[in-house]
Amino acid sequence: MTTADTDATFPQPRHSPGASVPNATGDMKAIYQRRAVRAYEDRPVSRGDVELLVDAAIHAPSAVNCQPWAFAVVQERGVLARYAADGRKLLLSEPPAIEVAESGLPDMDRLRQMASGPDFELFHGAPALIVIYATSIDGVPDCFLAAENLMLAAWTIGLGTCPIGLARPLFNRAEVKEELNVSREWPCALPIAVGWPDGEVPPTSRRPALIVAWK
Ligand SMILES: Cc1cc2nc3c(=O)[nH]c(=O)nc-3n(C[C@H](O)[C@H](O)[C@H](O)COP(=O)(O)O)c2cc1C
Repeated sequence: MTTADTDATFPQPRHSPGASVPNATGDMKAIYQRRAVRAYEDRPVSRGDVELLVDAAIHAPSAVNCQPWAFAVVQERGVLARYAADGRKLLLSEPPAIEVAESGLPDMDRLRQMASGPDFELFHGAPALIVIYATSIDGVPDCFLAAENLMLAAWTIGLGTCPIGLARPLFNRAEVKEELNVSREWPCALPIAVGWPDGEVPPTSRRPALIVAWK
């Protein structure tokens, strides 16, 4: 039995009630009501809950079932604060650091401007961060599927998450990889902030799906 089988005991999610698809039921609710959470309670996430999220992540599909993922969990407040500060400094470095230039994030100039604001906090004050690394260069897309599983599972137990693509440059730095016991060859796929949401998160909008062919 996996941890996911024990969901009968899960508390009801408290955030984002009645999001964009009010009729969504059962498992579909997580898809429609998950939100990027950017305000967290000052309350730790238990080891059991982190393990549950990682377990959900590794049940994602992957090409030829290669499961090309590894997880680094950061919960120590001091380490989180240091990474948040270092990640911000790296984002703002002039000329832009190679990891920033290669981060693959759209509209980097605007993002850098955002990061320069006085209230900017890279992890939004979350008490936990789960960083997903791809254990092969071409494993990043599989890791994104794992990331979505993790975020949906978090929603089902009332935890909030936020993907932190802006922290990817930091977690691709050789010294940070060494500190986290991560191979230099493994690209950082996605850091994910995790914690108990502080307040409700309003629904976000979506453009209609662009279906370009239906033959
Ligand atoms: C690859 C990726 C990177 C992201 N990076 C950040 C980030 O660095 N900081 C942040 O606050 N949100 C980040 N987000 C969250 C998006 O802004 C958010 O998913 C989007 O605005 C839609 O909102 P929703 O998730 O609440 O529906 C990221 C999302 C993805 C998929």
